[in-house]
Amino acid sequence: MLKLAVFASGGGTNLQALIDACRSKAIGAEIKAVISNNSKAFALERAKKSGIDTFHISKKKYPDENKYVQAIKDVLARYNIDLIVLAGYMKLLPVDIVRNYYGRIINIHPALLPKYGGEGMYGLNVHKAVLQAGEKYSGATVHMVDERYDHGPILIQRRVPVLTNDTPETLAARVLEVEHKILPMAVSLFKK
Ligand code: GAR
Repeated sequence: MLKLAVFASGGGTNLQALIDACRSKAIGAEIKAVISNNSKAFALERAKKSGIDTFHISKKKYPDENKYVQAIKDVLARYNIDLIVLAGYMKLLPVDIVRNYYGRIINIHPALLPKYGGEGMYGLNVHKAVLQAGEKYSGATVHMVDERYDHGPILIQRRVPVLTNDTPETLAARVLEVEHKILPMAVSLFKK
């Protein structure tokens, strides 16, 4: 079984898709820990409900940078994590961790990267920008994580149409549906 650590900042529907895929054995993985920078993230509730250990690790909680990085490293080491999944995680992972786990960290992004990625491009901002640009298509991307936001080799991408009467919210919902499919698919590409 591939041991996963999932990082999430908000509602955690992508986390839920992974929990469901693990439970149904659609993927040969188990989620050992969920980490959030946001103590109120609903993602943490979802994890607890499924009996997964949760950790609130933020720069606010650990003002000392070394202690902050160490707190993340400790969780990853404690569970012997094989793959880190950023599923709606709105922070950059510390460089140290990106370097130590390079090739074993993936991120999901709600657009067709390399378009509409980078700092500030998260959540509804992405969909607003896509609509403003008059794009005919948007979609979701899972990619390997490097030291830059939404950068690094692309693993899976799937597109969805943009409809004429779309709002950022309706587009987000259509994109999320494909996110929930391609994220477990991307995890299944990794072996222990
Ligand atoms: C998802 O759309 C994810 O792709 C996006 O945040 C949402 C989280 O939803 N991530 C980013 O924008 C990262 N740049 P969720 O909490 O329901 O999984």
